[in-house]
Amino acid sequence: MIGRIRRALRYGFEFIEQPFERLFGPALNPLAQLGALGFFFFWIVVVSGIYLFIFFDTGIERAYESVEYISREQWFHAGVMRSLHRYASDLMVVMVATHLLRQFAYDQYRGVRWFSWFTGLPMIWLLYGSGITGYWLVWDRLAQYVALTTSELLDRLPIFGEPIARNFVFTGTLTSRFFTLMVFMHIAVPLILLFIMWVHILRISRPKINPPRTLAAMSLVALIGVALWKPALSQGHVDLAMVPVEVGLDWFYLPLYPMTDIWGRGGVWEFLGAFSLIIGLMPWLPPLRRARAAEVDLAHCNGCARCAEDCPYEAIRMVGRTDSLPFPSQAQVNAALCTSCGICVGACPSSTPFRRSEELKTGIDLPDFTLKELRERTVAAAEALQGPARILVFACEHSGAWRLDEAVHLPCVAMAPPSLFDFVLSRDLADGVVIAGCAESACFSRLGIAWTKQRIAGARDPYLRARVPRERIATIWTSALATRQAAADIAAFTAKIAALPRKKLRLPRAPNPSSRSNDEHLPAEAGSAT
Ligand code: HEM
Ligand code: SF4
Ligand code: SF4
Repeated sequence: MIGRIRRALRYGFEFIEQPFERLFGPALNPLAQLGALGFFFFWIVVVSGIYLFIFFDTGIERAYESVEYISREQWFHAGVMRSLHRYASDLMVVMVATHLLRQFAYDQYRGVRWFSWFTGLPMIWLLYGSGITGYWLVWDRLAQYVALTTSELLDRLPIFGEPIARNFVFTGTLTSRFFTLMVFMHIAVPLILLFIMWVHILRISRPKINPPRTLAAMSLVALIGVALWKPALSQGHVDLAMVPVEVGLDWFYLPLYPMTDIWGRGGVWEFLGAFSLIIGLMPWLPPLRRARAAEVDLAHCNGCARCAEDCPYEAIRMVGRTDSLPFPSQAQVNAALCTSCGICVGACPSSTPFRRSEELKTGIDLPDFTLKELRERTVAAAEALQGPARILVFACEHSGAWRLDEAVHLPCVAMAPPSLFDFVLSRDLADGVVIAGCAESACFSRLGIAWTKQRIAGARDPYLRARVPRERIATIWTSALATRQAAADIAAFTAKIAALPRKKLRLPRAPNPSSRSNDEHLPAEAGSAT
């Protein structure tokens, strides 16, 4: 059931994203930058909020007038800031909802990833807390409605001794205490939100917290455009002698407020409780498959730290050496953080399939799918190849090529060390190699596509040797649902290779001293041979 919902949602996202990306490229796809856009909108809210605070009168008597002054007398700067503050906050809600759905749709929330998902839950509450207290401060009719309904909702909880809602119904008993508390909360809650935003990405290496400049500039210009076209305005001074009947609602922050009339206050709390419970439990709902974490083999680890640099989930730390090998450090895996993507295996200089040692061993390996097995599967898949052009496909299990029986399947394409592609072509196991990974803006293991591209381009260790004919290697980035697209791309590459003259390999070049490919710089006992 959950699987089917996830799949349907994923179709929905891809239906929008794929054509968009083909037209404008992955960098301008806002759906691929949701977390980064969330940070960006947050900063707009903070900057505009600080600016507004300069003109805002924090006392209950003059609050409304000061906001009116901002909106009408100084509309060209403070008024625009007020609108930016409102609309960027609204966009944060849109971003959070879409981000949550997309993480779910792309199945990037379960197992080890539970941490980011789980910390997202208090962020939703804090975001709403920030927005609702913000509406309070304007002290207009909407604020009165928000104050009254919030207090009625809070009265339902056994926190306050006496009902606070009546403060907002009877003028005589109203004090400004609550208003001052709201001013304080409207500053404190976003600060706590910022702290949790930081915690949220703690377990992610190189998190994207800044959107690409063009996307950021376009979002800001659009926000300013909306601010000028439809400025945020107040809805008339609070009148505590009357219960507000008709108010314009902000449907981003206040959609549940009218529901108090339909479901009752208890019903709203039950809904919120059920929502939080389901979201909170989702990472642990079955089916939960979990491969074993990567393991370090010290005899083959020289402490180069490449695995730690490439790991997308901060699962590897470099620590002092615990054996007698003459290297200052060694890799250490924190199994609780490891998603078993295998990217570290592809990064390790000991991961070289050319090695003749009886059992192929490397510095860091996946116990459930070792480098040795990868080499064996590669050789077996190559032996089965036929036709005018023998094309060996290395398919990420989240890519459009995952269903191809003849492909070598990997948890992430970056698990394959570049020397494996060299091995296939230089040993004439195939005429061409296809590296088939996820759609470019939706790499399941976050950094797998980026590292693969850089390794092939020679921009990242371990680089693909210059002797490997690049025209015989193709990279195909398609989503798991785009199986036909992947098959068509592979067919086109096969036709291209069939038209090439029979391959002739160049001799190995002298190694580049600043950069090393996989089969160099191994621990002395590893005994490599090419
Ligand atoms: C203010 C709200 C939020 C902001 C600013 C935010 C921001 C981010 C950022 C920057 C990342 C890292 C993206 C990357 O580099 O791959 C991320 C990851 C993530 N977020 Fe959020 N997030 C927010 C709310 C949420 C919520 C409400 C949920 C779900 C309940 C959520 C679930 C996740 C998950 C599961 C990941 C990890 C993805 C992975 O492991 O690949 N986030 N978020
Ligand atoms: S398998 Fe992936 S997540 Fe685990 S340590 Fe290696 S690179 Fe990090
Ligand atoms: S040798 Fe391999 S396991 Fe050791 S630090 Fe380098 S990449 Fe990591």
